[in-house]
Amino acid sequence: MRKPFICGNWKMNTNRAEAVALAEAAAATAADVPAVEVGACPPACYLEAVLAAAQGTPLVVGGQNMYVEPKGAFTGEIAGPMLADLGCTYVILGHSERRHVFGEPDDLISKKVKAAFEVGLKPILCVGELIDQRRAGETESVVRRHVTTGFEGLTTQQAADVVIAYEPVWAIGTGETATPDQAQEVHAFLRRLLADLYDARLARAVRIQYGGSVKPENARDLMAQADIDGALVGGASLKADSFAAIISGAAQAKGP
Ligand code: PGA
Repeated sequence: MRKPFICGNWKMNTNRAEAVALAEAAAATAADVPAVEVGACPPACYLEAVLAAAQGTPLVVGGQNMYVEPKGAFTGEIAGPMLADLGCTYVILGHSERRHVFGEPDDLISKKVKAAFEVGLKPILCVGELIDQRRAGETESVVRRHVTTGFEGLTTQQAADVVIAYEPVWAIGTGETATPDQAQEVHAFLRRLLADLYDARLARAVRIQYGGSVKPENARDLMAQADIDGALVGGASLKADSFAAIISGAAQAKGP
């Protein structure tokens, strides 16, 4: 019922030619593996080139961030209506690098989620604990806060369109992955939380991606977990063959 969703987060990487080549390869894989939704979130300056490469293919495209206001004197920021105007489907919000490198607080991320829906963008809401928080036994309280604030004020219809990406911060870009069991435990917790906040039906509908050093070698075991519905992939999405292998791994794990 939940279509697996594998999305590349290219962060501040690639040049224009590399972005187009990666998008073309991802689009070809998306066409080959229709059981999996495939997405790419390139740097904003290459969105247009990537969207052109994705046109007429099943590849969906998203922004990596947006500002909460629709326009105005906010030098350097990109607005939701601009992403929508280009043809983006998704926007990543609350990524750990936005939270921890750029200091974005929960209430700002919450406003961004609502601003995204106002222009028809679907948010990929990132949640996840720091290593010290995990060691202190605070994982559930941290992700509960991220989800509760991120979903604040959303209708059930909107909530169903949010993609959650559970990304333990200690696993991002470090090569250290949460074990499938560690990830599943948090994903199951998040689904129970959604059932509390909304209802069981909504909780069953929302897709929860895992993110943090997903690679071809670990993708299949992670995706085999009942509550893991895909992945937000950083480093390994920058190589066409490893991204394709992760997509195939997801199809195999979720396939009949
Ligand atoms: P990573 O990044 O796959 O390089 O760990 C994931 C992310 O930050 O979304």
